[in-house]
Amino acid sequence: MYRDRPHPVRLADYRPPEFLIERVDLTFELDEQVTTVHALLEFSRNPAATRGDGSLTLDGEQLELIELKLAGQTLTPAEYQLEAEALRIHRVPDRFQLETQVRIHPNRNTALEGLYQSGPMLCTQCEAEGFRKITFFLDRPDVLSRFRTTLIADQDRFPVLLANGNLVSETRLPAGRHQVIWDDPFPKPCYLFALIGGDLSVVEDQFRTCSGRDIGLRIFVEPHNLDRCGHAMQALKKAMRWDEERFGREYDLDLYMIVAVSHFNMGAMENKGLNVFNDKFVLASPDTATDEDFQGIESVIAHEYFHNWTGNRITCRDWFQLSLKEGFTVYRDQEFSAEVGSRDVQRIADARFLRNHQFPEDAGPMAHPVRPDSYIEINNFYTPTVYNKGAELVRMQACLLGPELFRRATDRYFERHDGQAVTTDDFVRCIEEVSGRDLAQFRRWYAQAGTPYLDIEADHDATRHLYRLRIRQWTPPTPGQPVKEPLHLPFALGLLDDQGRECPVRLEGDVQDQPAGTRVLELRELETEICVLGLRTRPVPSMLRGFSAPVKLRYAFTNADLIHLMRYDRDGFCRWDAAQRLQERLLLRLTQDPTTLIPDDVVAAFRDALRDPATDPALIAELLTFPSESYLADQLDVVDVDGIHRAHRQLASHLGTHLNDDLMAAYAHNQDPAPTEVTPRAIGRRRLKNRALALLMAVDGAKVFNLCQTQFETADNMTDTLAALRLLVDHGGAAGDAPLQRFYERWSQVPLVIDKWFSVQASSCREGTVERVRGLMAHPDFSLRNPNRVRSLIGALCHANSVQFHAADGSGYRLLSDVVLELDPLNPQIAARLLKPILSWRRYDAGRQAQMRRELARVLETGELSADVYEVASKALDTVPEQAESS
Ligand code: TRP
Ligand code: ZN
Repeated sequence: MYRDRPHPVRLADYRPPEFLIERVDLTFELDEQVTTVHALLEFSRNPAATRGDGSLTLDGEQLELIELKLAGQTLTPAEYQLEAEALRIHRVPDRFQLETQVRIHPNRNTALEGLYQSGPMLCTQCEAEGFRKITFFLDRPDVLSRFRTTLIADQDRFPVLLANGNLVSETRLPAGRHQVIWDDPFPKPCYLFALIGGDLSVVEDQFRTCSGRDIGLRIFVEPHNLDRCGHAMQALKKAMRWDEERFGREYDLDLYMIVAVSHFNMGAMENKGLNVFNDKFVLASPDTATDEDFQGIESVIAHEYFHNWTGNRITCRDWFQLSLKEGFTVYRDQEFSAEVGSRDVQRIADARFLRNHQFPEDAGPMAHPVRPDSYIEINNFYTPTVYNKGAELVRMQACLLGPELFRRATDRYFERHDGQAVTTDDFVRCIEEVSGRDLAQFRRWYAQAGTPYLDIEADHDATRHLYRLRIRQWTPPTPGQPVKEPLHLPFALGLLDDQGRECPVRLEGDVQDQPAGTRVLELRELETEICVLGLRTRPVPSMLRGFSAPVKLRYAFTNADLIHLMRYDRDGFCRWDAAQRLQERLLLRLTQDPTTLIPDDVVAAFRDALRDPATDPALIAELLTFPSESYLADQLDVVDVDGIHRAHRQLASHLGTHLNDDLMAAYAHNQDPAPTEVTPRAIGRRRLKNRALALLMAVDGAKVFNLCQTQFETADNMTDTLAALRLLVDHGGAAGDAPLQRFYERWSQVPLVIDKWFSVQASSCREGTVERVRGLMAHPDFSLRNPNRVRSLIGALCHANSVQFHAADGSGYRLLSDVVLELDPLNPQIAARLLKPILSWRRYDAGRQAQMRRELARVLETGELSADVYEVASKALDTVPEQAESS
C-alpha cells in the first residue's frame, strides 16, 4: 500500500540553517497559464550553524527549472541534482549569489498554496510551506530575508499589482504590459511573502499612529464588492488603536493593505503589509451578513493586524513553535473583542469553542501538545489546540502575573526578540524574568497533550466555620504520552452565601484582610486542599471564574447550587456554566429516559433569567442556549445520536411550552428598533429574540409559525432572515421549500449568501438531509474548488449536524469519504480537515463504528493520498506505529 510513507518531522531534529539568505530579488512575469519567476538570492554561511558537506539543498515543488546560475555561471547538470521536492547544488562557497528561473501554472493550482488563480485575480498563500511552490528557497521560518519584488503583467487584465512593503515604482512597458516594483524593508521569512494581481477596486482610509505617522489603509476587492468594506475598515482602525493602547505596539510601514479573495483555505493571512483574506472575513452589509459574520470580520481583521508584531516582527523558529504566534495572537484578538464588546459574552464564546472543538481534539487520535513534537504534514497542525488552547496558556500566564506585570513581560518580549525567530520557551522566559517566578512546571502545558480534569469535593464544618475544598488533578493518556505530570494552573475561586453575596476567601496564614470576591489560587500538586476560614454557613462555590484554566471541572453540584449560581454569580462565565451544567444534566437524563421529569425549579430559573432586566440580553441568550449535541455526545461512554437529538427537542419544547409567555414577551421586547445596527447591544437583542423564537418553534403552533414566516418575509437584516429560514427548513417539507426557493432567487448573485443557502439545508435536522446534500453537490452553484462552498455544504453536514451525519445507515460517512477522495487530489488541506468528525469513531455504537472504520479504510486504501489526508486517516485508525522507525 504505502511504500512511500511520508516521514514525520521531529522537533528534536531541529538544527539552525547552514545558510542564510540576506536578500531576495524576485521578478514575476504574471500570467494565469504560465508565470515565470526569476529569483536572485544572496546566500551566506550561517556563523551559528555547524558546517556540512559543502552542498546546498533548496526546497522546491512543482517548479519547472529553466535557468540556474551560481555567481553568474550557469551550472552544468553534473553540478546539481533536481529531485521531486528539492534542488541540491553539490558545492557552494561561503558567500554567493544564486540566480534561478522557473515556470509555474497558477490556473492549475487547485490546492490554493503557492501562486494561484482565484476568479479574475492571481494571489499567493505561502504559510506554512507554500513558498517552495513559487521558487527554490530555504523554505523555513528561521531564514529571514529582505525582499524586493518586481511584478510584470498585462495592464488590462492586471491593472493592480501588489506585493509586500513600499511601492518603489510603476512603469508602462511595451505591448500593453506594465511593471510595478515593491520593496519590503523588514527582513521576513518567506511564508510572509505575498503578491496580488488583478482588476481590483480599492477603499482608502488613513490612520495616524501614536507617534504621529500617517498610515495609508487600503482594502482591495472586486469592483462589485466596493460597498461592503466599511465594517472591515472600521475594525482595522479600532484594532490599530487598541494595539497601541493595550500593548504599546505601533504600526511600522507607511501602508497597510488587505485583499479579499474568494478562494481561500483558511480565514486570512498576515503577509507583511499585505494581508490576504478569505472574502467572508471582509465583505459585509446588514442585508447580506449576519451579526456573527460582522463579529467574525472584526476579530479576524484584528487577528491579522496583531500578527504584525506577534508573528511578523517576531516570528517562529520552526513550525513546532506555531503557537508562539498563533496562541498569543488569538489571546490578543480575544482581548480586543472583549474590550470592544462584552467581556462576559466573549469569554463564554471562547469557553464554548474550546469545549466544542479543542477538548474533543485532545481526547481523540490527533491529540497533540500546544507545542507538538512531531508532524507528518504541518498543515494538519493549524488546530484548536495550537490556536485556542495556546491562547489559554498565554491567558493563564497573564492571570498569574496580573495586568501590570504581564504588560511589562510582553514589553520585554517585544524589545528583546524584535527581528528574531524564536520559541515558546523564549516567550515564557520573558514572563519568568519580569515576574521573578519559576514557570518550570507551567512549561509542561506546552509539552503535554490532553485536557486535565479537576475532581473536586467540598465539606463544611459548621462548628469551626471551615469550608474545605479538595482538588485532585489528573490528565488522561493521549497517543504517545501514557503518563501525565501535574500542571501548574490558576484557580479563580469565589464563594456565595445563601443570599447570593460574595464571601471573602480567607485562608489560613493570611496576613491581610481579604475583601469579598474572587481570589486566584494556584494549583500545582496532584492533590490540593483549600481551607477557607470564617464561613458560618455552607457557601456555594463559584469555581474557575472567567474560565481561569482550560480544564474539565467535576463537582457534585446540586440543582439548587446551580440555580443559585445562575441567579447570583457576578462572574458571567460561571453563571453561564451553571446553566450549561443544569441543561447538560437534564439533557443526558432525557437521552437515557425520555420520561424523565423536568423539575419546575429549573424551569423557573430560566424564567427568572428571561425576566431579569439587569442582565445583558446577549448573556440571557447564552443562558438559554443548550450545550451542543456533539458536546453532549462527548459526555457519554457510547454516543446515543438519536437520543441526544430527541432530548434537545424535548427540552426545547418543554421550555417553549412552560415559558411561552415570557419567550413571547422577550421576542416582542427585542424586536429591534434599529434592525441594521451592529452594536453589541443590538446584536445581543437579536440573539435573544431569535433564541426565544427557536424555543417557541419547538412547540407546534400556528401562531409562532406565522411569526417566524413573517420574520422571514419582512426582515431587513440577514441575521433575522437566516434565523427564520433555518427554523422554517427544520420544520420540514413545504414550510421550508418555498422560503428556500425565494432566498435562492433573491441572492443568487451573491456567493457568500449562497454559501448560507447551502449550509442551511446541510445543517437541517430534517429527514433525508444526506440525500439532499448529495443532490446539492450536483447543483450548478456547487464546486469542490471553492473551500467556502465545500465548508458550507459538506462541512455543515459533517461538522454541525450530528443527527443526520451519523444517520444509522452510514450514508453520512459514505458521503464524507466520497468527497474526501474526490477532493484530496484537488485540495489536500481541505480534504484532511473534512475528516475530523470521523476521528471520534471509537465513541459510537458497534454498527456506526464499523461503518466509520470502513470508510476510513477505504480512504487509506487509495493509492495516491496526500500526506495531509494520509496523516489524519492513518492516525484515526492508529496504523501509524507509534514512533516506529519507518526507513
Ligand atoms: N497564519 C494564518 C492565521 O492568521 C493562518 C493561515 C492562513 C494558514 N492561511 C493558511 C495556515 C494556509 C496554513 C495554510 O492564522
Ligand atoms: Zn493567526
